Amino acid sequence: SARAGAMAVQDHLQELQNIAGANGGNRAAGTPGYQASLDYIKGKLDEAGFTTSVQEFDSLGGPTYNLIAETPGGDANKVVMFGAHLDSVGEGPGINDNGTGSAAILQAALDYAAGGETPTNKLRFAFWGAEEEGLVGSTHYVETLPEAERGKIAAYLNFDMVGSPNAGYFTYDGDDSDGVGAGPGPEGSAQIEKLLNDSLGAAGAPAEGTDFDGRSDYGPFIEVGIPAGGTFTGAEGTKSPEQAEKWGGQAGEAFDACYHQACDTVENVDARALERNFAAIANAVKTYAAQFPQP
Ligand code: PHE
Ligand code: ZN
Ligand code: ZN
Ligand code: ZN
Repeated sequence: SARAGAMAVQDHLQELQNIAGANGGNRAAGTPGYQASLDYIKGKLDEAGFTTSVQEFDSLGGPTYNLIAETPGGDANKVVMFGAHLDSVGEGPGINDNGTGSAAILQAALDYAAGGETPTNKLRFAFWGAEEEGLVGSTHYVETLPEAERGKIAAYLNFDMVGSPNAGYFTYDGDDSDGVGAGPGPEGSAQIEKLLNDSLGAAGAPAEGTDFDGRSDYGPFIEVGIPAGGTFTGAEGTKSPEQAEKWGGQAGEAFDACYHQACDTVENVDARALERNFAAIANAVKTYAAQFPQP
């Protein structure tokens, strides 16, 4: 059930926090805390039958890694990707940023696999390294992917900070409905925005658009024209009175007052926001396993 999945997501967050605690308080790229985080997630995906691989690259002068997992089944010429960065900043354990996105796509993958269906499209889950050092892992992945392989990626969905304690409900503005800022995403992005908006709206959390401003790992994908989308519950930005009216929480305060700090622990997560986002992710996995784009 969705509720059991949401409880499993919380268990993954606790594990990531324990890993940080045992490794100097963080899970930053190139550290033992990052390696232990990757090992934990890889173990779960291997056990569930995913085909996993680890991609090494250099960041800030040292080696670090992306973890890629895909379904053995599904059309290798039509791949739908879900991604989240797994590294934290050095200041803390990085549980909202981005344990939440990592744990949510992990559990959505595990739940999909447990259903026993073979997807029509191939599903690929990416856990990026060194996002906090400048989208280094996702950029390395896209840049080193042969052009023929790029062309097989039908869509990329990104999840970075999906349990902010004073949560907003944002989806990347694929259709540029507000007509300002970064402009629309690649063709097909609007459809992803709509699917995620429908899920969040049905859960009682009507979403607002947030610009593709390049601050997370969708950046390298939209750069090469791959349709993209995803959800976000806010970082250092301030919740407006209108947003507090609509979503609850505290107007005039940051969506995440512990952003990039030592206090970004399991205490720094809104369970309801995370559950709503997890449900939207699980629905997108199921929907796009069958078909993308939708007719
Ligand atoms: N990528 C930023 C970080 O990890 C947070 C962020 C996510 C900002 C999504 C905007 C949109 O610190
Ligand atoms: Zn961050
Ligand atoms: Zn982040
Ligand atoms: Zn929009």
